[in-house]
Amino acid sequence: MNKPIVAAIVAALAFVAPASAQNYPSRPITIIVPFSAGGPTDALARILGERMRQSLGQPILVENVTGAGGTIGVARAVHAAPDGYTLSIGHLGTHVINGAIYPLNFDVVKDLEPVAKIASNPMWVVSKNAIPAKDLKELVAWLKSNDGKVTAGTAGVGSGSHFSGVYLNQQIGTKLQFVPYRGTGPALLDLVAGQIDIIVDQASNSLAQVKSGKIRAYAVMSDKRLAAAPEIPTVDEAGLPGFHVELWSGIWVPKGTPADIVAKLNKAVTDALTDPAVRKRMEETGLDIPPREEQTPQALGAYQRAEVKKWWPMIKAANIKID
Ligand code: MLT
Repeated sequence: MNKPIVAAIVAALAFVAPASAQNYPSRPITIIVPFSAGGPTDALARILGERMRQSLGQPILVENVTGAGGTIGVARAVHAAPDGYTLSIGHLGTHVINGAIYPLNFDVVKDLEPVAKIASNPMWVVSKNAIPAKDLKELVAWLKSNDGKVTAGTAGVGSGSHFSGVYLNQQIGTKLQFVPYRGTGPALLDLVAGQIDIIVDQASNSLAQVKSGKIRAYAVMSDKRLAAAPEIPTVDEAGLPGFHVELWSGIWVPKGTPADIVAKLNKAVTDALTDPAVRKRMEETGLDIPPREEQTPQALGAYQRAEVKKWWPMIKAANIKID
């Protein structure tokens, strides 16, 4: 082949070459939050996004794409161009549990590249103040004596607040009436206003309202108390030993995103998670930051696969309906 033709082919290939980290990012990045603004996933995206902007030199725009327990937002990210400009933030519900409940047109593990595990926090049981129970044992007795009538706010089928509520039903033999919202941000507003009775919520979502006495927290679903609310007992102490759910969150990008872009995004996330101001904001809301070795893409991928193995059989056995 003569030289000008080779040069033309090389130039053409360079033109169609996939995105690489060299000039990345050269425009704003969008992070898709699959739940409402004002909820825990949204808050996490905004805290991290603000700091990631400093490392990446481009704004991180938050887009709330809500509905169907977060599956609509995750699908949007899965089907976006794999160029590093669309990120998917989510958690145990959206990136593990939903794969066992919904007939999805994507695979929660195979169709996304992990970027980093970012946080975790236990669920806890909170109620409106009008409920007469003063501790977990009294709450369980009240739930049983009002069985079938108690309303529990959720962020939709498969969300953290929903599958943790299903788990509570299984533990104590009740049937909560689930009220789906597009996120636990709006569900919490309704709990404070007394429109619904309880939420099995992420502690980070409702900590401020518990602290200000607007709602009541009964027990942390973990074997250790929350540093940010040490007065609330664990479920082990309060009468439901072993009733634990830790809701961990992560960031992913569409499958096929170049490895050097994933590495650049991971670096921006880990920079954010080592920043004392970010750590303080996260810790104040009761969020645990994973140790550095758990913040790699490989560690998130392995953890997500292990969680699929652990949860899918239980979720499938629970036969959760989506309508
Ligand atoms: C949200 O951001 O609204 C939550 O993560 C919802 C949930 O899964 O309970």
